[in-house]
Amino acid sequence: MPASSDRSGSSPRLPSPNATWQQRSLASVWHPCTQMQRLAEVPPIAVARAHGPWLEDFAGTRYFDATSSWWVNLFGHADARINAALKQQLDTLEHVMLAGCTHAPAVELAERLSARTGHALGHTFFASDGASAVEIALKMSFHSWRNRGLGDKREFACLRHGYHGETIGALAVTDVAVFRDAYDPLLMRSHVVMAPDARQAEPGESAADVARRAAADLQRLLESRHEHMAAVILEPLVQCAAGMAMHDPVYLREVRALCDRYQVHLIADEIAVGCGRTGSFFAFEQALVEGSAPIWPDLLCLSKGISGGYLPLSLVLASDTIYEAFLDDDTARGFLHSHSYTGNPLACRAALAVLDRFDEEPVLQRNRDTGALLTAALAERLHGDARLEHVRQRGMIWAFDVRQEFAGERFAERFHLAGRAQGLLIRPIGRTVYLLPPYLLNEEHVAYLAERTVATLHAVL
Ligand SMILES: Cc1ncc(COP(=O)(O)O)c(C=O)c1O
Repeated sequence: MPASSDRSGSSPRLPSPNATWQQRSLASVWHPCTQMQRLAEVPPIAVARAHGPWLEDFAGTRYFDATSSWWVNLFGHADARINAALKQQLDTLEHVMLAGCTHAPAVELAERLSARTGHALGHTFFASDGASAVEIALKMSFHSWRNRGLGDKREFACLRHGYHGETIGALAVTDVAVFRDAYDPLLMRSHVVMAPDARQAEPGESAADVARRAAADLQRLLESRHEHMAAVILEPLVQCAAGMAMHDPVYLREVRALCDRYQVHLIADEIAVGCGRTGSFFAFEQALVEGSAPIWPDLLCLSKGISGGYLPLSLVLASDTIYEAFLDDDTARGFLHSHSYTGNPLACRAALAVLDRFDEEPVLQRNRDTGALLTAALAERLHGDARLEHVRQRGMIWAFDVRQEFAGERFAERFHLAGRAQGLLIRPIGRTVYLLPPYLLNEEHVAYLAERTVATLHAVL
């Protein structure tokens, strides 16, 4: 299936279409998250088309999109249902500003998302990228305290190695050195508290014990600073950019209780982990204990998968208490934030098609079933491999770490390139190899993913 040679049949004198697009890209496109000087050695895959989990280059070589194109794709590329919804929307209303106007896709999406929280989060504010949603949540938190006469509450806490995006505000609550350090002089100061990452367990300690230890660290901060603290921001259940660091849901319950006790907002950044990725529609749902009252964050950020991976859409769901803090005759007490494409109808329509699938198809159950197959296939192939540690899974995210002594130089880049030769688009984070595939795995995909991932591993180590 994958082939490393170009099968386009071009004359040997002419560069292949793949090479042509790569060269033109190098000459004109500044690629994200990329040291451009290395691009000649790690040229981008020139993607001609995509279908289902497959990306295809101009020579017809196929790559399994094992990371769902930066964690955005849910139901595969060129999904018939989302395509149809978008085509219809395109002929109806492509875009209109959302200040002074409204439209069905934004209203329906806000209603349906709120209903999914049992109306605990009653209003939706729309934006485009994940980082914008984080900016909005931070501003909303601070401004709502200010409107309530608590303007001193302007500090934020975030988790060790947490990631919330790359704009200046989002970066200020991000603790990933490679993204943050160069801009550190520009950033507001945040409090970084212990992460609940279960990999930190001491002998005899469970994941829940680590989570409680991390919550105790946050408690120490809130005890001393609560009068100045606006919000705690966290990625529920999986800190993805930290290297798929997973934690026990008890952490979310503990943080919710601490935030209530110290009057601090809880911002759940579900940009990567929302929309079923961790096994429930919202990751935060897993904090609920059967028989006890539902708990929710005060602000919840969504992006990436909400549009099925089609269009830039992000949003912040806000509690009624926060929303009501902005209602006033004074314009300046309103939330005057805006982006030109806020609530774009096409993006919202794609999101509605995503919600239709969750409502009408057993998406989560199907993921549990096919997910179990992938877990078993990986376990069978990785069992007893002493070069690996922390083999783990949460919902539709699988990860393992290669021990430091085996990883060697530029592990992630070497693994990525070896993955290409195996017909995989896979990009480890540091020494962490992970799979975050679209929700359409069948038995053939499972076997392919497991075999090719392990073959890549053997080729690299
Ligand atoms: C948890 C989390 N928050 C925020 C972001 C930023 O989203 P965007 O890249 O769309 O700005 C990301 C992106 O990976 C993310 O994983």
